[in-house]
Amino acid sequence: MDPKVAKADAKHQKIHSEKRKKDSSERKTGNEIFDKITLETLYKLANQGHIDILNGAISTGKEANVLTGITDDEKFVAVKIYRIATSDFKKMNYYLNGDPRFNVKTKNKRKIIYSWVTKEFKNLTRLYDAGVTVPKPITSANNVLLIEFIGDENGNPAQPAKNQTPQNPDEFFNKLLVELKKFVNDAKLVHGDLSNYNILNKDETPVIIDVSQSVVLDNPISKELLERDINTLVNEYSRLGVKTSFEEVWEYVSPKF
Ligand SMILES: Nc1ncnc2c1ncn2[C@@H]1O[C@H](COP(=O)(O)OP(=O)(O)OP(=O)(O)O)[C@@H](O)[C@H]1O
Ligand SMILES: [Mg+2]
Repeated sequence: MDPKVAKADAKHQKIHSEKRKKDSSERKTGNEIFDKITLETLYKLANQGHIDILNGAISTGKEANVLTGITDDEKFVAVKIYRIATSDFKKMNYYLNGDPRFNVKTKNKRKIIYSWVTKEFKNLTRLYDAGVTVPKPITSANNVLLIEFIGDENGNPAQPAKNQTPQNPDEFFNKLLVELKKFVNDAKLVHGDLSNYNILNKDETPVIIDVSQSVVLDNPISKELLERDINTLVNEYSRLGVKTSFEEVWEYVSPKF
């Protein structure tokens, strides 16, 4: 058998054997991230031709796991899977409530997560369409988000700028400000958690990620979030030797609230 088919078949088998194991509490399967619904969602995405093989973990965070996937035509994709059990629903509700695009009036945790993932997908689409350097959104389903893999052709992911300090911080910061201006003025969004942890250093170009909490400018909290984001960046890049200030960045971005 073609080794790819064999692997896909093994995956198929795995999904079905996991399905048979019934566990009522949270419908867990023993494997931390792959509860029953996540497995079904991944299986659906595989059937739709979006992923063929799940390869390895890039990151295991508080709320989400990011894995590398391989598509049918052998391209890498990033697969971000939110874990229902460990998500911060209070935070999610806070960011969802002020957004006119999402009218989430539910206490159902699954529904909140699905709205959260849809929000990340819509934000990414809006940013990508506005020409901001973000991973290209591919699709989302339930608690799973598929986006462009940022990394090299061998599947090595680009590192956050926190871990991979830019070689020329001035130049990198300037590129970042150009992106920030488009983020706010063209996509009309505020990131809300912008820092070198959520900026990948892809060959000395900043790629902004993790936009689930990003809010539209109409959101009453947007101004405060932008102030916080700019303060964080100014602190981080000042530490790297860049001469900048809050006022200078604010003026450059010149947000219209
Ligand atoms: N498109 C991508 N390509 C390559 N690596 C990625 C991509 N998206 C995310 N990553 C990696 O996964 C990590 C976590 O991603 P992200 O910031 O989107 O999740 P998170 O919401 O911070 O996760 P958590 O809430 O679990 O902390 C990133 O720091 C980065 O290393
Ligand atoms: Mg992050």
